[in-house]
Amino acid sequence: MHSGDLKIRWARQYMPVLSSIRERFEQEKPFAGMTIGMALHVEAKTAVLVETLVAGGAEVHITGCNPLSTQDDVSFALNTREGIHSYAKRGATVEEYYAGIDRVLDARPAVTIDDGMDLIHRLHTERREILDAVIGGCEETTTGVHRLRAMAREGALRFPVIAVNDTPMKRFFDNVHGTGESSLAAVMITTNVLIAGRRVVVAGYGYCGRGLAQKARSLGARVIVTEVDPRRALQAHMDGFEVMPMDAAAALGDIFITTTGNTGIITERHFPKMKSGAILANAGHFDVEIDVDWLERNADAVERREGINTYILDGTALHVLAEGRLVNLATPKGMGHPIEVMDLSFAVQALSALHIARHGRELSPGVHDVPSAIDEEVARLKLDVLGLAIDRLTPEQEDYMSSWTIGT
Ligand SMILES: NC(=O)c1ccc[n+]([C@@H]2O[C@H](COP(=O)([O-])OP(=O)(O)OC[C@H]3O[C@@H](n4cnc5c(N)ncnc54)[C@H](O)[C@@H]3O)[C@@H](O)[C@H]2O)c1
Repeated sequence: MHSGDLKIRWARQYMPVLSSIRERFEQEKPFAGMTIGMALHVEAKTAVLVETLVAGGAEVHITGCNPLSTQDDVSFALNTREGIHSYAKRGATVEEYYAGIDRVLDARPAVTIDDGMDLIHRLHTERREILDAVIGGCEETTTGVHRLRAMAREGALRFPVIAVNDTPMKRFFDNVHGTGESSLAAVMITTNVLIAGRRVVVAGYGYCGRGLAQKARSLGARVIVTEVDPRRALQAHMDGFEVMPMDAAAALGDIFITTTGNTGIITERHFPKMKSGAILANAGHFDVEIDVDWLERNADAVERREGINTYILDGTALHVLAEGRLVNLATPKGMGHPIEVMDLSFAVQALSALHIARHGRELSPGVHDVPSAIDEEVARLKLDVLGLAIDRLTPEQEDYMSSWTIGT
């Protein structure tokens, strides 16, 4: 069996929630005659989502959402299957990256599934002629949802998009545990350094940052958090982490991981303060958090090895992982989130795509929440798989919770 097929088979066995949705889709064929256009990280777990949509009758055209996150053997394996066309290629140039997006759009998708909003951006700028063919879309990540909300605020978004990222069944598990575990795993497997006893600086104490900080501490790291939001900074403090500005943390950290979704987090102001041997990685969606361009222009020398570029500045060596792109997917050995986490996120994606296919025409253009029935369904399916039973509200409890008349 081809390596891409073996990877997909490996992932599929740990994705029972998506399997049960697939069985339902096979019976109901809800996407019969429909084209779905996707720009996601093309690797094994995504392939299982694609299979699920195809089992529901869809024709899927997919490309990457990051030039370094594609696994070519998985892209190849997808292309051998009926009803699936993959244009993703690892190491794509900017032109090749957008050519992939254009090929997906050439298929005139009725439903879009994005991770970072590049597909929807292209549709609303260069490819407006096919906008009317689209019923709606789904967005996987925080940065994509930020961009979509900015578009919606300006009245520029022309169809409904479900913010898959923002729903509890995605954020509580994918952003916290998925990014936390897989980003640290990517740092460890790429560098082979010990985390225990090291000072790990986590920039941003959002969902991803919280996961990273907790997991680094559980490995024995001394964790410093940087924030701009006073509430989140206080939360980090009360969760037991040191809190300080990046200007102060720069001189203390051994390993830096940015996860703010913002730009210019570690810059020329910080690099000269850092210890020689400091390791810098980004887990945020775009490669704008660490100013790698400045290092490229100003370093006295650069040593390039697989997944690590070392910049020498006045005798100080700074090691940047995965060119500052999201470390858990873009390092050569990065495998992305753990499979079980993506089982949940992609179950939400599959059911949200179904919701768009069935009800998209009734929804107004703009950003929509995942319907809570979908979120609960995914949680219940996962509990069933785990064999976990939970209590149910009694009629008295339901009355009590919905009443305002019962007091002391
Ligand atoms: N690596 C992955 O696989 C993966 C998975 C999920 C999300 N993401 C990406 O990670 C990023 C963060 O996602 P999230 O869900 O944690 O978002 P979030 O909004 O919950 O958290 C971001 C945090 O960063 C803080 N922040 C913003 N600017 C800052 C600055 N200058 N300095 C310090 N802190 C700052 C914000 O106040 C906020 O608390 C996004 O780009 C998202 O798309 C990556």
